Amino acid sequence: MSGKTAIRLGLIGCGTVGRGVVALLANRPDCQITHIAVRSPEKHRDFMAEELPQATVCQDPMAVATHPDVDVLVEVAGGVDTAEGWMTAALKAGKPVVTANKDCMATHGHTLRACAEQHNVPLLYEAAVAAGIPLVAPLKTSLAANRITRLAGILNGTCNYMLTRMAQEGWGYSHALEQAQAKGFAEADPTNDVGGKDTAYKLSILTRLAFGQSVSVDDMLLEGITTITDTDMQLADEFGFAIKLLGIAQSAGEALDVPNLDVRVHPVLLAKTHPLASVANEFNALWVQGHAVGELMFYGRGAGELPTASGVCGDVLSVVAAMQGGALSHTAFADPALSNTPMALLPVNDIASRYYIRLVTQDTPGVVGTIGTICGNAGLSLESVIQQGVTNDGHANIVLMTQMHMEGQCQQALEAFNACETIESVACMLRVLD
Ligand SMILES: NC(=O)c1ccc[n+]([C@@H]2O[C@H](COP(=O)([O-])OP(=O)(O)OC[C@H]3O[C@@H](n4cnc5c(N)ncnc54)[C@H](OP(=O)(O)O)[C@@H]3O)[C@@H](O)[C@H]2O)c1
Repeated sequence: MSGKTAIRLGLIGCGTVGRGVVALLANRPDCQITHIAVRSPEKHRDFMAEELPQATVCQDPMAVATHPDVDVLVEVAGGVDTAEGWMTAALKAGKPVVTANKDCMATHGHTLRACAEQHNVPLLYEAAVAAGIPLVAPLKTSLAANRITRLAGILNGTCNYMLTRMAQEGWGYSHALEQAQAKGFAEADPTNDVGGKDTAYKLSILTRLAFGQSVSVDDMLLEGITTITDTDMQLADEFGFAIKLLGIAQSAGEALDVPNLDVRVHPVLLAKTHPLASVANEFNALWVQGHAVGELMFYGRGAGELPTASGVCGDVLSVVAAMQGGALSHTAFADPALSNTPMALLPVNDIASRYYIRLVTQDTPGVVGTIGTICGNAGLSLESVIQQGVTNDGHANIVLMTQMHMEGQCQQALEAFNACETIESVACMLRVLD
């Protein structure tokens, strides 16, 4: 490294991830953090005083993004439109950008990529998908010869921690959420975690890489884990399943000569023998099926200070090496182009699955017959019907497992259950991943 000038890094954000980036890059001869923007520059941060005594700290991210003494921008602040503005300014100024920002990449990735290409500089975002688990680079390079047919991922550590604990300890949903927050896994406002949107952002990025298709989170079937109860966890366990929140993207045949892509986020019943079923607590995993490589699974920590910084710094160091080798270009780091064969998003009603349906009913004679009639009218064949005891207030849980059917048929039955007087509620409907 001797004789080469250290590459100067500008850092926007010095919170959880930024702190990890500072720790991993401290005292390197090839690069150094020279400029930092934070919201509260007056706040004393021991680690910054110790590791970066020479760095200039300010409150203005745009000043860091465009500063003539910054060679590479590292964006670890978060936000959507503001972050897009900072990153665009840096790219336009000819600076490579590294980010961990999934919300921004899923929303504005298209324009940011175009800007990076136009200005011939790299835009890297490994940590934006699963933090410390390398997924972007393997999908871009190592698996490039494959036609990916299916991927399914546990992409949100908060949800996976909650579902694991509900299954293992019998915790209710609210207690599981409190514990996830106490452990620092869940955000103060956990809506995007438990509602599935965080998983959808990551799935949108993965779908582009694996299938060459641009799918907005607004167009996906999106369901979170807020309706899952300890009762469903116990029943799933008895039937030989785990309940996991998955992001799924898969080829789904053709309709009117156009290939279909099935992209969705929702909790699933997963056979305990599936490799994803054993991914516990805050861990993340992506299971991928390629036509040449077969099945693969990537597993590790999808959040946290050092795991996320590991992903960010891997990108930073690859850019630094290219700059010092005099070989920096957009092309060497570019994402694969969008596919020439656009795929249509599979309509929700055409999803094929087996379904787990839990009904809370009145404990009256004939209710099972009524359920059978409704299923018959919707064309749903049942694999099993199980009545789970009677509660003190005279209600019964009746659990149906259907055979493989179209979602439209399931929804037709759910509508009829909701309209039926002897059925108090459809307490839960889950799709099975076969
Ligand atoms: N945490 C994880 O495990 C993880 C995993 C994967 C990806 N990410 C992504 O990494 C990014 C950062 O996450 P984080 O957990 O490190 O967040 P964080 O702990 O809240 O830190 C955010 C940092 O950005 C600064 N900041 C925010 N808005 C700013 C603004 N308008 N101007 C200047 N500075 C601003 C904050 O300044 P102050 O310190 O002064 O408030 C803080 O230092 C997000 O995009 C997140 O989605 C995080």
